[in-house]
Order: sequence, then C-alpha cells, then structure tokens
Amino acid sequence: MIVSKAEFIKSSGSFRESPEGNIPEYAFLGRSNVGKSSLINMITGRKKLAKTSSAPGKTRLINHFLINDTWYLCDLPGYGFAKVSATIKGKWEKMIKDYLLRRPNLVCSFILIDLRHGPMKNDMAFLEWIGENQVPFCIIYTKADKISRSRRQQYVSAYEKKLSAMWSPLPKYIISSSSNPEGRDEILGFISECNKQFYGSE
Ligand code: GTP
Ligand code: MG
Repeated sequence: MIVSKAEFIKSSGSFRESPEGNIPEYAFLGRSNVGKSSLINMITGRKKLAKTSSAPGKTRLINHFLINDTWYLCDLPGYGFAKVSATIKGKWEKMIKDYLLRRPNLVCSFILIDLRHGPMKNDMAFLEWIGENQVPFCIIYTKADKISRSRRQQYVSAYEKKLSAMWSPLPKYIISSSSNPEGRDEILGFISECNKQFYGSE
C-alpha cells in the first residue's frame, strides 16, 4: 500500500469525542516509550505526523490520523512506566480500555512490545485483559535495530514461551524498527488486507 495522504484529525479525551467511527481503524498500544508514535510516523512516511519524545509520557490523548481518506490510525497514551501520578495513569488506563471496548470500527489493535526488554509484567497483564475481552490484536516488536539479527529469534522465543501459557495458537507478530523502516511493508500489507475485508472487496 502506498500512503499518499496522512492527516491529523483530532485529539480526544475519551472515546466519546472520537471522530465518527464509520471507516476501519487501527490502534497503537503499549508501554510508554515503546515507540508507538514513532511507528505511526515510520509507516506513514511522515516524520512529524505523531509527536514523539525520548521522555516517556508524551502522548496523553486519543489521536486520530486519517490515511488515504479511507482508514484511521489511532495513537494512544502508554501504560505503565510514564513518570506521571497514579491518578493520571489510572485515568489513561480507563480511557484506553473504554476506547478498546467501545470503538465500533476498531479492526485491530497493534500491541507494541520492546523486543529488548523481555516479557514485562504490565505487558502480560494488558495482553491478558485483551484476551479476556476478545479485542482483536497483533503484536509488534519494536526497536529491532537495537538487537543483532542473530539474537532476535532468542528474544522472540522468550516472549513466545510466556505467551504460550495464555495463547494457543500463538498471536501473530511483526518485527519492526522505526529507524530503518523495517516491518513497514508487512504492517501496511496487513492493514490493506483488513481494509479489504472491512469494505468487502476482493
Ligand atoms: P509515549 O507517547 O510516551 O507513550 O511513547 P511512544 O510509545 O509514543 O514512544 P515514541 O514514539 O515517542 O518514542 C520513544 C523514544 O524511542 C524516542 O526517543 C524515539 O526516538 C525512540 N524510538 C522509537 N522507535 C524506535 C526504534 O525503532 N528504534 C530506536 N532505536 N529508537 C526508537
Ligand atoms: Mg506517543
């Protein structure tokens, strides 16, 4: 898929304020600083579409981007890790979970996990919640440029070992890096297939 148009539509404090949900939508989720906003910029080929920062806790609202006039990308705040108060973390968590449960046009949630850090408690807890609530998802391992190619499979296997306690078959995953657009074609290809199913074309 070629991204010929990518525009910021709006930031919302709750799913209720989101733009009308009549076209397919894909959400980016994961711990603060995992690389959600950077990945949105990478796959759209626009360096400054979503705001990024080396300090965790940059994205604080639900942000909608309209792509090729036909589908939405949604950038969300991170869970865990961000240096904000427990009250704000709780508010973000409720905002994210309400959005995931109530957004009618959400086709797939991309759950981003930093490949380097090993399976973390809050990633596992979030995935468990996703499973219990039957939210469709795909895992994207991020920052692959930080690990040598030869050691990647080792890291993926460590996750899969943990995930196998919860999932059979294991969830689909894509390995990505925003610094050398690895994973871009695979992510866009996946979205393109999902869009075809949504619109019911061949
Ligand atoms: P919050 O909005 O705070 O939840 O974070 P986020 O998940 O949106 O992360 P963001 O995209 O802002 O990136 C966080 C930091 O990681 C930034 O300093 C990015 O430059 C860096 N980063 C993101 N993706 C990659 C990647 O693939 N490789 C490397 N090396 N750095 C990355
Ligand atoms: Mg962000």
